[in-house]
Amino acid sequence: MARLNLPEATRFEKVPVSIYVDQETASLAVANRIADLIRDRQANDRQAVLGLATGATPIRVYEELVRLHREEGLSFRNVVTFNLDEYYPMQPDAAQSYVAFMNAKLFDHVDIDRDNIHIPDGTIPVEDIHEYCRTYEQKIVAHGGIDLQLLGIGRTGHIGFNEPGSAPDSETRLVTLNDVTRSDAARDFGGKENVPTQAITMGIGTIFKARVIILMAWSAKKAEIVKKAVEGEMSAEVPATFLQLSDNVEFVLDQDAATALTRFDNP
Ligand code: F6R
Repeated sequence: MARLNLPEATRFEKVPVSIYVDQETASLAVANRIADLIRDRQANDRQAVLGLATGATPIRVYEELVRLHREEGLSFRNVVTFNLDEYYPMQPDAAQSYVAFMNAKLFDHVDIDRDNIHIPDGTIPVEDIHEYCRTYEQKIVAHGGIDLQLLGIGRTGHIGFNEPGSAPDSETRLVTLNDVTRSDAARDFGGKENVPTQAITMGIGTIFKARVIILMAWSAKKAEIVKKAVEGEMSAEVPATFLQLSDNVEFVLDQDAATALTRFDNP
């Protein structure tokens, strides 16, 4: 596939897009940016505040961060994390919880202070969720805001669990999951009927406030939704299009996820 980066070729793209030869190379580049941020903050005796995603997309990034910790002495003592979302209801010790995911992929293998980890709590009584979500937002602010937010993208165009219909200024809240999203999660839960119908998610407005936003997407499965997010009209129908409003966003793709972009799909 030709690598076209000429201004003419990319004129349909409404966000900066970086395309890597494969998921491996892209993941290592993202992990290195995170490591640089952590080290830079360490050198200045400051915390690094990371917004983290779950799902298949960031797994290789987390593996590389664990390797950098084990083999190259990267410390997470100054790292504070806020995860994007959690199913609701969800027990933290359930196998499908995002708490279990983050522990298995990252937190159990690095020297992060457990008090610095924040993941929406899927056990909050429903009547307390509104207040809980306000407090989640306040904690982000109290830590000086998110320095770097990692995102994946769902086939519905969701970021976090901000499904179609989400407002660009939405904050952390309880949401209903889209049917496509629940189908995509069915395998993890042993059937769609077992996938929770709701989740707690940071809002699009919450994500916007991050100083750097990196949306990653791999494989041809994501090509169509990536094209809509990058080149499409901004609309609540594809929540990721709202990222076009941000000056701080970058899409990091492998070649397969980029194939539907006009610069490649135009004979
Ligand atoms: C996960 C999240 C979701 C995923 C998206 C892509 O915390 O917020 O938006 O990033 O559903 O999932 P994968 O990476 O499994 O394709």
